[in-house]
Amino acid sequence: MDAPLAHRIAIVTGGSSGIGAACALGLAEAGATVAVIYRSDAGGGEETGRRIRDSGGRAAVIRADVSDEDQVLALFDEVRERFGTVHILVNNAGIQIDVPFIDMSLQDWSRVIAVNLTGQFLCAREAAREFCRRGVDESGSRATGNIICMSSVHQQIPWACRANYAASKGGVRMLVETLAQELAPHRIRVNAVAPGAIRTDINRDAWETEDAEQQLLKLIPYGRIGDAEDVARAVVWLASDASDYVTGHSLVVDGGMLLYPAFREGG
Ligand code: BGC
Repeated sequence: MDAPLAHRIAIVTGGSSGIGAACALGLAEAGATVAVIYRSDAGGGEETGRRIRDSGGRAAVIRADVSDEDQVLALFDEVRERFGTVHILVNNAGIQIDVPFIDMSLQDWSRVIAVNLTGQFLCAREAAREFCRRGVDESGSRATGNIICMSSVHQQIPWACRANYAASKGGVRMLVETLAQELAPHRIRVNAVAPGAIRTDINRDAWETEDAEQQLLKLIPYGRIGDAEDVARAVVWLASDASDYVTGHSLVVDGGMLLYPAFREGG
């Protein structure tokens, strides 16, 4: 039997580290050819590509800033040139710039919205255009194409000193639901994964010291910080036909962080 994602071409933005790198590796392990996209960490991007090839997979490593329209168009052209088409987009690239609201500059706001929300818009639009151009193909997938957006528990949980980040993820949620509604007739599925605390560089401050980790664990009923692979497995499932009837969904991967852990005692 073919691997679940055999003959599929996937693009993973922010593939040079953390959740993106794990998603790229997970998709490749499931049989997909993966275009690993990075913006500044060329070494990390190449490392992800090398790990995929070393385990027998097919990968390309491409530089692009997802907040720049021309670079996104060029990125999709390059993937089409190299692999013919694309079936799966993992809209993962994201940043945090944490600043108390009163001190937040327009630049702090705009940069986070540009990468986390506009970047997802630009990549999703190019992916959807390519899916519609191609139509259903011989890849074996039931869907014409599949878009998976990296959101966060902060699409729902307000987060002090991160108004830019929380607003971007709230926006991602509505982007996903709206695109899912609009694109379903083309047999394009659009879903989000909403991770909680996953041990990566973006939240290093929250787990690096014993004290910080203990504080963080108070927010996670399941009692451990997540691994990037916890998220990657959810992404692979959403990318495969195993989830063919799932669209417009946010799959929360958070060890229970969204379950109001403060209410375990009292209330
Ligand atoms: C953020 C992390 C944070 C987690 C849970 C994520 O979206 O990027 O920094 O640890 O949410 O609060």
